[in-house]
Amino acid sequence: MKNVIRDKNIVLGVCGGIAAYKSIELLRLLVKQEANVQVIMTRKACEFVGPLTFETLSGQPVCISLFGDDGDASIKHIDWAKEADAVVIAPATANILGKIANGIADDALCTFILAVTSPVIMCPSMNTHMYENRAVQRNIDILEADGKHIIVPGEGELACGISGAGRLPEPEFILEYLISILSTKDFTGKKVLVTAGPTRECIDPVRYISNYSSGKMGYAVARAAAKRGAEVTLVSGPTNRCVPQGVTCINIESALEMSTAVFDAMDNSDVIIKVAAVADYRPKKQADQKIKKSGDELVLHLQKNIDILKELGGRKKNQVLVGFAAETQDLKNNAQKKLTEKNLDIIVGNIVGTPTSGFGTDTNKVTLFFKDGTSESIPEMDKEEVANILLDRILMVK
Ligand code: CTP
Repeated sequence: MKNVIRDKNIVLGVCGGIAAYKSIELLRLLVKQEANVQVIMTRKACEFVGPLTFETLSGQPVCISLFGDDGDASIKHIDWAKEADAVVIAPATANILGKIANGIADDALCTFILAVTSPVIMCPSMNTHMYENRAVQRNIDILEADGKHIIVPGEGELACGISGAGRLPEPEFILEYLISILSTKDFTGKKVLVTAGPTRECIDPVRYISNYSSGKMGYAVARAAAKRGAEVTLVSGPTNRCVPQGVTCINIESALEMSTAVFDAMDNSDVIIKVAAVADYRPKKQADQKIKKSGDELVLHLQKNIDILKELGGRKKNQVLVGFAAETQDLKNNAQKKLTEKNLDIIVGNIVGTPTSGFGTDTNKVTLFFKDGTSESIPEMDKEEVANILLDRILMVK
């Protein structure tokens, strides 16, 4: 993954809520991404978690009060505000939401926020009734109108014993959100259609034909494009992946369903990236009932599916069209043949079936083939990093 967090100055504000313990994990993740993190805690937060934990993990003094008793950090908060690339307040209590919405400056955190000009992400976390209270919602509206980023809390069992909205999202989710805020927005205004995962071709009510695609590469492309500001529609076959933040997902099963979804979205797309591993054939007949075992052999008659990408290539107007070629041999010839036959701008050739590249792996080793006959070999790397290089090249297509 292109590390947009590395060497960034991130200020983590921690308030007094039961979820304060989760911000320790968030700090750990930020430090792992090589961010320079400075922590400001409210006095109430210190009753839930000890400042020493934050101090040890961040390697920096924690700021708790405006003046005096926590030494150096107390007077530096204005410098921190100047230097901060982003601020995350997690958890954000009803109290801090109210204070920041109304410009109150009676502790280190809300005074600091008044001086900050970089993006501020606030993660409300509290009891459901408190969260739904009109005063709290009114403050959230004000904060949003003032340009603060509010992450809507999750729903579930809360520490107070009731179930509903108010949970602090998982630290990984908050980190993803922050990455998205800090990423270059060079796809703003572009509509990107991505397909991902396998298709399933039904044999009978309990069986299907499919392939080993996990959806990891397609979801990485969708996530990277959304982070870079694109409006992303993801047409996905069955996978167990989470839909990336800000992406609209249309779930399909078969190649026919994928073709309908893709052709519907085509005219409204600037870029189409077909990462999905589409089944080339489907059973000619789908049995209404479970097929019972009988003889030693069973013959399934298969019928060719539509080649969605080829059809897109025939219909394409101004869209940039990108395909993936999953090959087990002769990558160059096979990929270039598909590039020409399907009228593509770029095809991403990748050898599948190795432990570090292809279906189900976290990394990929690909070669990009361009319509002008040139190619570019990309060394093995994380799938999201591959996705970002592909997006860079898409921006260069004339
Ligand atoms: N594709 C498609 N519709 C199909 C088959 C493939 O849209 N019915 C797309 C895939 O999404 C991918 C590209 O075509 O972007 C190449 O897919 P691949 O499976 O590598 O090749 P095929 O064209 O199916 O050819 P073959 O299976 O013979 O290698």
